Amino acid sequence: MGRLCFSKCRLGRIMGWLQIVLGGLVIIVSISSLIRFYSAGFFLRNEAICQQFYGVNDVYDGFDIKALSDRIGEVLNKMESLQEKLELKVQEMEKNKAVLLRKNITRMEYKKYLELEVIRPLYNAHIALRQIRLPRVEGIRNSTVKEEPLINSFVIEEIKKYITPKENRLGKINIYGTERIYNTIGHACVLFKKELEEYMDYDIGSYCDDDWNLAQKLMVNGCDPLPRRRCLTRASKVYQKPYSINESLWRLPDDRNVRWSNYQCRNFACLSSKNPKRGYSKCTGCFEMEKEKLKWVTNSSLPVDFLINDVLAIKPGEIRIGLDFGFGTGSFAARMREHNVTIVSTALNLGAPFNEIVALRGLIPLHVTLNQRLPFFDNTMDLIHTTGFMDGWIDLLLMDFILFDWDRILRPGGLLWIDRFFCNRKDLDDYMYMFLQFRYKKHKWAIAPKSKDEVYLSALLEKPPRAI
Ligand SMILES: *[C@@H]1O[C@H](CO)[C@@H](O)[C@H](O)[C@H]1NC(C)=O
Ligand SMILES: *[C@@H]1O[C@H](CO)[C@@H](O)[C@H](O)[C@H]1NC(C)=O
Ligand SMILES: *[C@@H]1O[C@H](CO)[C@@H](O)[C@H](O)[C@H]1NC(C)=O
Ligand SMILES: *[C@@H]1O[C@H](CO)[C@@H](O)[C@H](O)[C@H]1NC(C)=O
Ligand SMILES: *[C@@H]1O[C@H](CO)[C@@H](O)[C@H](O)[C@H]1NC(C)=O
Repeated sequence: MGRLCFSKCRLGRIMGWLQIVLGGLVIIVSISSLIRFYSAGFFLRNEAICQQFYGVNDVYDGFDIKALSDRIGEVLNKMESLQEKLELKVQEMEKNKAVLLRKNITRMEYKKYLELEVIRPLYNAHIALRQIRLPRVEGIRNSTVKEEPLINSFVIEEIKKYITPKENRLGKINIYGTERIYNTIGHACVLFKKELEEYMDYDIGSYCDDDWNLAQKLMVNGCDPLPRRRCLTRASKVYQKPYSINESLWRLPDDRNVRWSNYQCRNFACLSSKNPKRGYSKCTGCFEMEKEKLKWVTNSSLPVDFLINDVLAIKPGEIRIGLDFGFGTGSFAARMREHNVTIVSTALNLGAPFNEIVALRGLIPLHVTLNQRLPFFDNTMDLIHTTGFMDGWIDLLLMDFILFDWDRILRPGGLLWIDRFFCNRKDLDDYMYMFLQFRYKKHKWAIAPKSKDEVYLSALLEKPPRAI
């Protein structure tokens, strides 16, 4: 009897305590969110909201106020219905006090109730609040851009995650010269209205300006894909026919086949690693064919340098087409061509005519940024090779999207060759997890020190069959 009372009384105490805690939680969450919205003026009427937002020097130009208020409304509704539900429950309990006292309700049932009916909706509301991106008055770091457009107009979290720009790790500028990577579905064009209008301002049918660098700037900032234009692109006035294929692979092209006006250098010789004013920094030495000829065919002192012969020997005759996702002058594709493997090389003209040199060597340059889904169909590539491009500056979420895209285009049995990826020693675990998450078969795996704090990682992984 005493024990019964004990457990009943305790039950009552627990319930009372729970009610207080829950009530408190709801109130805290509501108040904290309300304060945020109040300060942003969300409870003003529509016109007032617009004044509040647009009044500040038009910094919210292009920000979708309606989408934002819709999403806030959604969260507020969620909170409200949760509160109502809890109140109803408490009232009901109050009414049925007597029954409640007699009835056995196990703690497990309470736990389940709390989890399902209280914590989960609270958590959802909390997450929804966090995901709402308020316009920032001070701008995003150094840029004058105040808010990424359209993000709040999507409901599906994965889209929002995808198009939210990814800050470079370590606060560095990346090789595109930007502070973040703008994964794109083309929406970022509205942020570069001025540049886009400049780009599209031409006389139909006449010559375009020599503005590939404006086009590339738009691309790396997420205005990608660019619109087509109806003007004639300029070419070198003294264009020579390219060297024939028996020579072109390993010979620096004719300087006359490149328009040099937007570079520091005016010829290929000037792009040598010895010239400190060459205008690019990423693959120093990659315009020196004597150095390039040594890569992937000569034994190196580092275990992270695999040889093409060893890699191809894993799948004799099976590796026929592939992608070189990197930054360079196409030497990997040139070597693979000698093995009768067709490689498409990504190329951006960052400080030097990388697209032109790849093409003039008789190889295929693909002018793409990191922003975009690769223009290849699922399960098509025999090989993806990546070097000199992805390293420790890359945001992990960005990297995740990229790696899944590579997984998509790689065929079952295809090889992923990660070549001299490097990062801070302390970040190695994170990146290793990224590469290993797909459970590819490990053919080769090597780590070597790069400097005091940095390490190289190379791997040769095979995509397994997906029998599902
Ligand atoms: C309540 O639980 C006790 C023991 O925990 C049990 O003896 C009793 O039969 C239960 N009563 C009801 C109504 O389920
Ligand atoms: C931001 O601007 C400041 C001052 O203009 C400059 O020192 C800093 O390097 C810039 N940071 C980035 C990431 O561009
Ligand atoms: C390359 O091929 C062309 C035409 O087939 C030939 O005239 C030339 O001598 C060859 N060059 C070399 C270096 O083999
Ligand atoms: C590289 O080293 C291996 C073993 O040390 C040797 O068998 C091979 O012939 C060497 N290859 C080259 C291109 O030097
Ligand atoms: C590439 O193909 C050509 C023509 O079929 C053949 O003669 C050559 O031996 C092949 N090269 C390699 C490395 O397989």
